[in-house]
Amino acid sequence: MSEITRETETAYTALGFYHKISQLRADTWNALKRDLGRIVRLNDAAEERQLAKSIDIKLTRLEIIEDYHAFPSKEDFGHLWALFGREDFVQLEKVVKRLVRTLISESYRRRHVDLSESDSDSEGLEALDALAQLRRGHPASNSSAQPYFEVLIVDAMSLQEEDVVREAFHNLRRPEDKFIYDTVTVRSFEDALIAILVNPNIQACMIRYEFPYKSKYNLSALRNYLEGISEKELESKTEAERSLLLGSMIGEIRPEIDQFLVTSGDVEVTASADIRHFKRIFYRETDYIEQHHTILRAIDDRYRTPFFDALREYSRKPTGVFHAMPISRGKSVTRSHWAGQMIDFYGINIFLAETSATSGGLDSLLQPYGPIKKAQEYAARAFGSRQSFFVTNGTSTANKIVVQALVKPRDIVLIDRDCHKSHHYGMVLAGAHVAYLDSYPLNDYSMYGAVPLREMKKTLLNLKRNGQLSKVKMLLLTNCTFDGVVYNVRRVMEECLAIKPDLVFLWDEAWFAFATFNPTYRPRTAMHAARTLRDRYRSEEYQAEYDAWKTEFDKLDPDDDATWLDNHLMPDPETVRVRAYATHSTHKTLTSLRQGSMIHIYDQDYRQKVESSFHEAYMTHTSTSPNYQIVASLDVGRMQAEMEGFELVHAQIEAALTLREQLYTTPLLKKYFQVLVNKDMIPLEYRQSGVDTFYDPVSGWNKMEEAWAHDEFVVDPSRITMAIGKSGIDGDTFKNEYLMNQFGIQINKTSRNTVLFMTNIGTTRGSIAYLLDVLIKLAKGFDRRWEESSRPERKIIEHKVKSLTEELPPLPDFSSFHNAFRPTPGSPEGDIRRAYFLSYDEENTEYLRFDNNELQKQMAAGRDVVSASFVIPYPPGFPVLVPGQVISEEILHFLQALDVKEIHGYRPELGLIVYTIEALERTTDCAD
Ligand SMILES: Cc1ncc(COP(=O)(O)O)c(C=O)c1O
Repeated sequence: MSEITRETETAYTALGFYHKISQLRADTWNALKRDLGRIVRLNDAAEERQLAKSIDIKLTRLEIIEDYHAFPSKEDFGHLWALFGREDFVQLEKVVKRLVRTLISESYRRRHVDLSESDSDSEGLEALDALAQLRRGHPASNSSAQPYFEVLIVDAMSLQEEDVVREAFHNLRRPEDKFIYDTVTVRSFEDALIAILVNPNIQACMIRYEFPYKSKYNLSALRNYLEGISEKELESKTEAERSLLLGSMIGEIRPEIDQFLVTSGDVEVTASADIRHFKRIFYRETDYIEQHHTILRAIDDRYRTPFFDALREYSRKPTGVFHAMPISRGKSVTRSHWAGQMIDFYGINIFLAETSATSGGLDSLLQPYGPIKKAQEYAARAFGSRQSFFVTNGTSTANKIVVQALVKPRDIVLIDRDCHKSHHYGMVLAGAHVAYLDSYPLNDYSMYGAVPLREMKKTLLNLKRNGQLSKVKMLLLTNCTFDGVVYNVRRVMEECLAIKPDLVFLWDEAWFAFATFNPTYRPRTAMHAARTLRDRYRSEEYQAEYDAWKTEFDKLDPDDDATWLDNHLMPDPETVRVRAYATHSTHKTLTSLRQGSMIHIYDQDYRQKVESSFHEAYMTHTSTSPNYQIVASLDVGRMQAEMEGFELVHAQIEAALTLREQLYTTPLLKKYFQVLVNKDMIPLEYRQSGVDTFYDPVSGWNKMEEAWAHDEFVVDPSRITMAIGKSGIDGDTFKNEYLMNQFGIQINKTSRNTVLFMTNIGTTRGSIAYLLDVLIKLAKGFDRRWEESSRPERKIIEHKVKSLTEELPPLPDFSSFHNAFRPTPGSPEGDIRRAYFLSYDEENTEYLRFDNNELQKQMAAGRDVVSASFVIPYPPGFPVLVPGQVISEEILHFLQALDVKEIHGYRPELGLIVYTIEALERTTDCAD
């Protein structure tokens, strides 16, 4: 590993993000405005002094934050300080009010605002309009204006020089430019990193001449994130080396930012160094015009939406429709006597864009060559994959495509049993032999965590000892889980590859597409981990590390399981192949119409071994009439994520942290609701950092990075699981009767005693406030219910609370496949396809009831009772039985204790469908 990469990694993991900076910024400006409103009305000198001190503190704090933003500018701030110095609070209040309005309306994005001049009417109206829209829940859209961004300039120049540079770029603005931008100058290495963390408007960065390492501010709060960079080492680096290191760190934290290096002409150094993070190198003499156009071009590269553009273009062309699809161009509805309301509701554009044509500037999803191909290439850039593919039927289909592309009948797949049902069906279709992996249970909350690495290694070893390792093809895991448990993806791949060097990984990231756009989350995505590992295994440093490790490892007994399970394994760089696939429900966490999903690939063997089978699998599962609106929305969703994913995800996490803080600290809420934190959802053995909770009332959210950098599992704080057992209401009832029916709040996951609140990039502070308001109302209602209940009624409530907090049936592990479906006796994998299709012949199955002990009696008499179908209770929504699985006592206990209304694959009046003894005997004979 190169020096730069190593340093980048350490610093990067410690960097994280300043979690609540934008709320802090907005709140401090508002608080300042309030203070000024009070001080101008005060008559008491002592109080005035006190308040002036508080204003001073707020201005000082804001000056630090605003130093990293283009608006308000440094001159603007100088103006504020001058007014403060003159104690002209009346004028200061006016200016601050105007400034706050400008920030709310974002009018600084559209035109230059000079705070030393007086307010203009249009600005005031614009701000009022923006506020009104925000109140109505429709924030001002900037769609028709030139999009605005900021360029970060890193250069230790003087304030006067900064003015000159800023002015020079301002003067280049032309009305016909596609974008408008302003500059922000920072003067040190540290400041550059802080700027890109706190200012999401920064889209491009010019790293210019000599700059020191240290920031002029003593930013202790921000400094925490900069630990791990050795100051001495940095100070001793040459100008070029320091610039390159800064470029690579910015690339790790915000890879979407377009970076340019401006050198003083040290051509040799830059030519021989790793300059992949820079779009272009400018020499000192390059003129501003050249730089201006290069910046605009780079931004345009990300802003482009090839397929969406092609579709809009198509919709404007007059065409005669002589193919099937009467709704195309709205023909079947515009003149309809009955169906016109569709146009009223959707507007005409959606119909103008509906077509089945693949010509006329459009493209074919099944065989892309034009704008869809381009759009997919851009998606690969955005998500850090080698190849990306759009899928218009959700991740349910994406998963089946990947499995079919890679797995042939009788290949072994290791898979978490509580995965999404599309995987189980995918296994049936592919004819895979399945080795189910158990996640650790969270019995107190009736839900699962995730699969421990030890369990995966154990299963791989078991297969190895049974001579089956060569058949193992894939490890399939869900990251993050529905409940937000996140794997240490890199560690899992690293150690499993040490046992099976060509293992393919399918990471179901249905819920994790957004993670790519946040620096703390990104390393736990499949694409990032795959790229990091590939770079690592190709380096000389890794070879040396591996050799040293192998020498020690070879001294241990390979037949002892502990040798494999208790040591951190390292793959052989000579044989290892990095092969990772990820499936995203883009529609779940980013902008996309429903069913818009993507497959991302980082597979060193893709071109040689997979490309054609992938194509066939894609053809198998993709409609020949894919929905163009979904494809266009994926294209726009990608663009948005590349332009403002960092900002949106940051805001989402800020909103979630605010919700969590309130739930942790409000006594009334704590009485009935408990938000699960890291320690509740992850047993200590999987928390190497020992971090119990990310939040500390004194130091805030400082522990998050530490846990995310090291632990086997972490909880994604943007998904909030709340235990509600103390309310005496079960999850399902709470969801439907309380949240939905009474307050119109939708959620989609519950367990027996928990509900899950998911935030997303559309979650606003307003929606969080509403939820908190509702929860407080509910808690007050529970208080009232208790106060007004009679003694017997209270007994009923107590009984319910006890049942929901203490009487929780332990979650059953996967028992085993019956021998009739086990191709290799003693080995864990099962032929799920054979078990699935055996039930198609009615005479092979019978129903047994367990509510009348019929089934239990058969088991007691020694019969292996084997399920002939999937049995999936909702919640929790994973199969407690799969076809071919032996029914165990634990599973029956669990089913009996469940109080849910919906169990797929189970008909209470008939019982469970199982295989007859004869069918099993016949199958076993065939297998023999
Ligand atoms: C883990 C997981 N994978 C896949 C899917 C299916 O995704 P889609 O709804 O996009 O088909 C889901 C849906 O909830 C899921 O939770």
